[in-house]
Amino acid sequence: MAGDKTVCVTGGSGFIGAWLVRLLLDRGYSVHATVQNLHDENETKHLEDLEEHKSNRLRLFQIDLLDYDSILKAITGVSGVFHLASPCTVDKILDPEKEVLGPAIKGTNNVLVAAKELGVKRVVITSSISAIVPSRHWPADVVKNEDCWTDVEYCKQKELWYPASKTLAEKAAWEFAKEKGLEVVVVNPGTVMGPVLPPTLNASMLMLLRLFQGCTETYEDFFMGSVHVKDVALAHILVYENPAATGRHLCVEAISHYGDFAAKVAELYPEHQFPSIPRDTQPGLLRSKDGAKKLMDLGMQFISMEQIIKDSVESLKSKGFLS
Ligand SMILES: NC(=O)c1ccc[n+]([C@@H]2O[C@H](COP(=O)([O-])OP(=O)(O)OC[C@H]3O[C@@H](n4cnc5c(N)ncnc54)[C@H](OP(=O)(O)O)[C@@H]3O)[C@@H](O)[C@H]2O)c1
Repeated sequence: MAGDKTVCVTGGSGFIGAWLVRLLLDRGYSVHATVQNLHDENETKHLEDLEEHKSNRLRLFQIDLLDYDSILKAITGVSGVFHLASPCTVDKILDPEKEVLGPAIKGTNNVLVAAKELGVKRVVITSSISAIVPSRHWPADVVKNEDCWTDVEYCKQKELWYPASKTLAEKAAWEFAKEKGLEVVVVNPGTVMGPVLPPTLNASMLMLLRLFQGCTETYEDFFMGSVHVKDVALAHILVYENPAATGRHLCVEAISHYGDFAAKVAELYPEHQFPSIPRDTQPGLLRSKDGAKKLMDLGMQFISMEQIIKDSVESLKSKGFLS
């Protein structure tokens, strides 16, 4: 399986990872996809189902982000790595080091060390808008862009461990890339939604489900815009294949507030009762249609918020999460 068209997707079993694996297989890549437990059908079956229609180009590997050797095995024989595996939650965290910071930061470091050791050509890291916001120090009259970084001290004070983990992991990746001369490129997706391939729901699809269930949370420090899961997968492939793609890439259909998103959901599904959510939910966040200009300049055309919501709701209904 060696060669330029063999890549590894860590977190291949996840919401975004499974879509990325699917699109890579469609494009003729051979894929090493990682899962946490090879014996758990919830993590493997939806990937094996993809493989039924392909020509034996998918291999599954079990990794633990804290176990370097497991990562080394998954990356052996590939020329590119997409590093998605990371704990992803907007819920309360009791043991930050164990639950998020350790796996995110040490995991990223393990992937980069293994990639360097094995001579991998390019590593795409899935960071997040959570490494861009919350960032209240940013000038109030300037639209947030890839130069903006999350304020880690603020995160620590407010116990926002997920944004802290994504920010520290991405910073560690840039430091490693610079020091060791490894080619790294980063995608920073907004809140990702769309058709779900795994049998369980990830954190961002849970946000939508909870809105339908009446949740009044406004995700003040967690939202910067939405993006279709297929667009996120495509953006990863675009920055991997395009040598001109460098640095960070904000990946949202537009910079918007959660209140805009909730209002659009309510407009599209008038038969449902939704909680009243204010329009401005992210203090000081300037809206922008072309927040993802860097990706647009590389050829990305983003699926609209309306279509993101329709595809997500259809998927929640077809999987029985929503009636
Ligand atoms: N969803 C969003 O809105 C969003 C937005 C921006 C960035 N991101 C980033 O995108 C990536 C994927 O997120 P997702 O939404 O697809 O989440 P997800 O469905 O929860 O997927 C997370 C993946 O990481 C794996 N993983 C988690 N902890 C691990 C560990 N300790 N060792 C090995 N593997 C581990 C999971 O494996 P198992 O399935 O086997 O447990 C799963 O494959 C994450 O880096 C996340 O921070 C997500």
